[in-house]
Amino acid sequence: MHSETEFKQEEYLERVDKISQFIDNHNKKDIQTAEDIQLLVDTFYDHVKLNQIIGPIFTETIPVDWEHHLPKMYKFWGSILLGERSYEGNPMQRHVEISGLTAMGAEEFSEWLLIFTSTVNSLFEGEKAKEAIVRAGNISRLMLHNIEQKKT
Ligand code: HEM
Repeated sequence: MHSETEFKQEEYLERVDKISQFIDNHNKKDIQTAEDIQLLVDTFYDHVKLNQIIGPIFTETIPVDWEHHLPKMYKFWGSILLGERSYEGNPMQRHVEISGLTAMGAEEFSEWLLIFTSTVNSLFEGEKAKEAIVRAGNISRLMLHNIEQKKT
């Protein structure tokens, strides 16, 4: 009898797990505020720093001054997704420069995009979340194209 009870409990716990995942997914909100953008950017770079392929570009090749870089990225994504118009800069030019210091090809861009997409999807759900992923993909392709053009 004891094992039967245990079995049922296991089944029950599995179901509870499934239900809480379901509730989690349905409670995700869209990217709506400056705080949401900050959470997205901060979480994204937490993952980037730990990534074996592109992490060292940020931590060793450059290395990035995070106090300066993060607020810039809040403005960049705030301008794209919330219409803030706060970002002033030329990301294309900066990435072509970086490609002169380290490998910045299809492998690095797909890794970047994979981290970005999984970060957005883990935190948000909605039209702006989808837009963030689509825009990141478009900018990535353009950046990679510009980098390849400069090399030939
Ligand atoms: C392989 C992919 C990428 C790598 C390794 C990379 C790396 C970097 C690094 C190291 C910086 C900091 C430069 C500095 O502080 O001097 C930077 C800046 C920046 N990155 Fe990327 N990046 C990548 C892709 C992208 C993509 C796809 C986007 C946009 C969707 C993007 C947007 C930006 C922006 C807006 C800045 C700030 C530029 C500025 O105004 O100074 N990056 N990136």
